[in-house]
Amino acid sequence: MNWSRLSPSQRVAGTSDRETTEGVPAPWNPDIWHSLPAKQQPDWTTPGISWVREALFSLPALSTPADVRALLATLSRVQAAEAFVLQAGDCAEPFGKAAVVGARNKHRLLGQMATLISKSTAFPVVTAGRLAGQFGKPRSQPTELVEGRRLPSFRGLIVNGAEPTETARRPHAPRLLDAYQTAYRVFEELHNLSGPVTAGDGEPGGVRPARWWSTPPGSLSTGAHSYGQTRQRDGSWLHNGLWSSHEALVLDYEEPLTRRDPETGRWYLSSTHLPWIGARTNQPDGAHVRFLAGVANPVACKVGPDTDPAELVRICARLDPDRTPGRLTLIARQGAAMVRDRLPALVRAVRAAGHPVIWMCDPMHGNTVKTSTGLKTRYYDDIVDELRGFFDVLVALSEWPGGVHLEVAGDDVTECVGGGGPIVSELPTAYRSLCDPRLNDVQALSLAQEIADLLTSAAATLSDAARLLAANN
Ligand code: PEP
Ligand code: CO
Repeated sequence: MNWSRLSPSQRVAGTSDRETTEGVPAPWNPDIWHSLPAKQQPDWTTPGISWVREALFSLPALSTPADVRALLATLSRVQAAEAFVLQAGDCAEPFGKAAVVGARNKHRLLGQMATLISKSTAFPVVTAGRLAGQFGKPRSQPTELVEGRRLPSFRGLIVNGAEPTETARRPHAPRLLDAYQTAYRVFEELHNLSGPVTAGDGEPGGVRPARWWSTPPGSLSTGAHSYGQTRQRDGSWLHNGLWSSHEALVLDYEEPLTRRDPETGRWYLSSTHLPWIGARTNQPDGAHVRFLAGVANPVACKVGPDTDPAELVRICARLDPDRTPGRLTLIARQGAAMVRDRLPALVRAVRAAGHPVIWMCDPMHGNTVKTSTGLKTRYYDDIVDELRGFFDVLVALSEWPGGVHLEVAGDDVTECVGGGGPIVSELPTAYRSLCDPRLNDVQALSLAQEIADLLTSAAATLSDAARLLAANN
């Protein structure tokens, strides 16, 4: 691994995050967040957070700068309306073998969905899993009712246990090392699942990121894809495997895994390829935004219904000061009822500020409801409704609907209602999520067809509009 493994005492001042005091750029360092308001951080009640952090500093990087740069190049193609992103996986990833099996399932399911979308639209599909680090959960309330008992909320396995006891729910710092170990195994699994990109996979000289090149018709369920690792060929990037992505939430985990690339001198978040900031931690002057502002990875940020256009422009200024295509993805999660009203002003404001972002739709998190028995669920029809609203808004503003962000299991769970899946009374049959409800295979593939149809008609409308514009000029 060609990363510099630096202990905290060896770390040196990094690049500027463009915050200036009397015109002097303040240096950016991975520890920048300690002096800033950091929401949703665990209150580590057991001793040991300092030695756990020291241990993480000394562990190998998980992603490489070359791969991260390849992803950035690929995402710049999405931003240019040449490709589409499918980002999906668990709400909360399990630890250990279950995570490895889960990654295998996500690899298969995302491959099937990407193949379907790619084949019906002729657009390459870039696939990113919510995995290899998707362990931390932001929570709206510090406590929750479980089986009639009020307990501290479950915050993801990186922080506390899901079991409904006071002891399990106590934040426990050594979990950060368990998280790293699982992430390491999932990275290994993704690597093993990737095959070499063979001659004929790409089009010579063409820039065709992440198409699911050679799936023979009728073999969608066999996993017989041509999975590849990123390779540069004739200046083009190919990638047929899953990129890793997770919410960069628990900063005591992310900071020690931020490494300086000796070749470029830039800081990279090595815990993943594509980190994102959640809707509860996206304050422009908060710890999470200022932390991710300093890493060279492409980054994403959720945008909920309570983020206003001016605030979003401040977030963009922090995360994408150089206006780099592919650097920033905005994941709109407005809810089916709000998307048509709220999204247009956000899209216009970002465009007016000149940020070349990718607009992605998360139709899951604004549509969560509780059943009368207290189970969290989502209705397939609401998910489709938000997706349609998102595509309508983007296309009406002549912007590229660049991707979708979903929670899927890769398994026959019964967590969401409709779309060929369970009815409400069937939800308890196979409700296995550690946190939010996920689509099962049937629902996910049916949604992939919806997405393919929406993308086909969006592409046709946008190219008609472009032709009309060219003809009138
Ligand atoms: C999530 O992605 O699981 C999540 C918590 O989303 P959001 O930050 O959009 O609420
Ligand atoms: Co979730």
